[in-house]
Amino acid sequence: MQGGTGANEDIFSTPSKIIRDPNLLSSTFVPDNLVHRDMEIKDLMMHLRPAAQGTTPGNLIMTGPSGSGKTAVTSQVVEKLKNHISQPKDAEKLLIASVVAHASPYRVLKDLAHECGSELPKKGLSFEDGWAVLEKDLEGKRAVFILDEIDKYIERDPEAKVLYRLTRRPDTCLILISNLQPSPLLDMIEEPRVRSRLEAATRFGFLPYNALQLVDIIRGRLKMGALQHGAVGDGVVELCAALAQGKQGNAAFALNLFETAAKIAENSNAEKIGMGHVKIADRMVEESNVREAIFSMPPEKRFLLMVLLRDGPTAPSELYEKAGKISRELIRTGYPFSITDRRRADFLRELKAEGFVANNREGRTKGRGGVRWKASIPTCYDRATLQAYIHEAFQKQFGDDKESKESKQLDHSMYG
Ligand SMILES: Nc1ncnc2c1ncn2[C@@H]1O[C@H](COP(=O)(O)OP(=O)(O)OP(=O)(O)O)[C@@H](O)[C@H]1O
Ligand SMILES: [Mg+2]
Repeated sequence: MQGGTGANEDIFSTPSKIIRDPNLLSSTFVPDNLVHRDMEIKDLMMHLRPAAQGTTPGNLIMTGPSGSGKTAVTSQVVEKLKNHISQPKDAEKLLIASVVAHASPYRVLKDLAHECGSELPKKGLSFEDGWAVLEKDLEGKRAVFILDEIDKYIERDPEAKVLYRLTRRPDTCLILISNLQPSPLLDMIEEPRVRSRLEAATRFGFLPYNALQLVDIIRGRLKMGALQHGAVGDGVVELCAALAQGKQGNAAFALNLFETAAKIAENSNAEKIGMGHVKIADRMVEESNVREAIFSMPPEKRFLLMVLLRDGPTAPSELYEKAGKISRELIRTGYPFSITDRRRADFLRELKAEGFVANNREGRTKGRGGVRWKASIPTCYDRATLQAYIHEAFQKQFGDDKESKESKQLDHSMYG
C-alpha cells in the first residue's frame, strides 16, 4: 500500500455531503413512530390486553408480505406489554419470550428457554430433554410466546414438534408470524392435532404498504435527520416508493433502495441524490439480492431451478426425478453430486420460502387431505438473468473451465 500524499488524503476529514446519520438510513433501524400501522398496533394491544390483566389471550396467526411491518409492530407492542407488567408480582407469573423461529426444533426451544432464563447446551440434549427444561420454567406460569418467521420453521419441521408441545400447554398464548397466509401455513403442518388446535387461532393480516405510505416511511428518516439538509432531489423519495410498491410494498426494500441511492450519490460526489442514482440503485439492490442467493445455494438446489426454467411448471415428484437425472449425468462426468428426493423436497420448500418458486394449485387429489401443486418460477423474475446467474455460479464451481466435461454436460442439461 502506498503512503503519503494522494487525492484520497482528505476523505476522512471532509464532511459527508449527503449522509448525516447512516444508522437512521438502514432498514434494520426501527423507529418509535411506526407510521400507517396505528390500527394494527391497537388490534394487537387489544388482543394481548388479557395478558396484562391476569388471564391468557388466545393464539394468533399474523400474516403479511415481507416488509409489511409485522416484526416491527409486534416488537413495539411486546415492549409496551413488558413495561406494563414490570411490577415484580406480575412479571413472576407471566413469561414473555420472542424468538426468530427459522431454525431446528431444538434450537427454537433453546432460544425460548434462554428468554425464560434457562440455558440449554448447544448439543447433547434431545428435543424431549430440552422440552423438559422449558416445561419446568413454565410451571405454574402464564406465557406469551412470539414465534417470528414460523413458516420457515414449519418448512424445516412439518411435524411442528415445538408447536405440538406449546399448543398442549394451558395458559400459553402463541403469536405466530408468517409470510404465508394462514391456510397454506396450516396445510404444511403434517401433525393433524397441531393443525386443528391452530385452526381456532385469531387471524391478523397485514396489507402491503402502498406508494404513499412508503413515501411517509422514507420521509420519517429524513425528519429524524438521516441526510444533510437539501440532499434529496425532486421525485427521488417518490420513485423509491413506487419501485418498492412493485415489490409487494416492502418497506425494507424501499429503505434499502434509498440508502443505496444515497451512497451512490455520496461516492460520485454529487450535491444531492437524483433519479439516476435511484435507477442504478434499483438494479444493484435487485441483482445483488438474487445473485447472492443463487451463488450461495448448494448445487442440487440450483438443479431444481434449472429444471423449472427449462421446462416450466412441474409437479414436485417429476421435478425431483428430472433434477436427479441432471445430477446422475454429472456424476458420470466425475462430479460428485448426489442426494435423496427427501433432501430435494427440503430444497424445494426453501426455494418457496425464498420466493424463487411459487405453488400453482392444480386441483385436489383423491382421498384424504390432498391438494395437487405444480412448482413454477414467479413471473416477476427475468428468466434469462436467472439462467445466467445459475450458469455463472456453476462455472465458478467448475474452475471457470468452459471446455470441461462438467461444463459441457451442464450446458446440455440446462439448455436442452
Ligand atoms: N410503519 C412503519 N414505519 C416506519 N418504518 C417501518 C414501518 N414498517 C416497517 N418499517 C421499516 O421496515 C423494516 C422492515 O419491517 P419488518 O421487519 O417489520 O417487516 P416484516 O413484515 O417483519 O418483514 P419479513 O416478513 O421480511 O420479516 C423495519 O425494520 C423498519 O425499518
Ligand atoms: Mg419480520
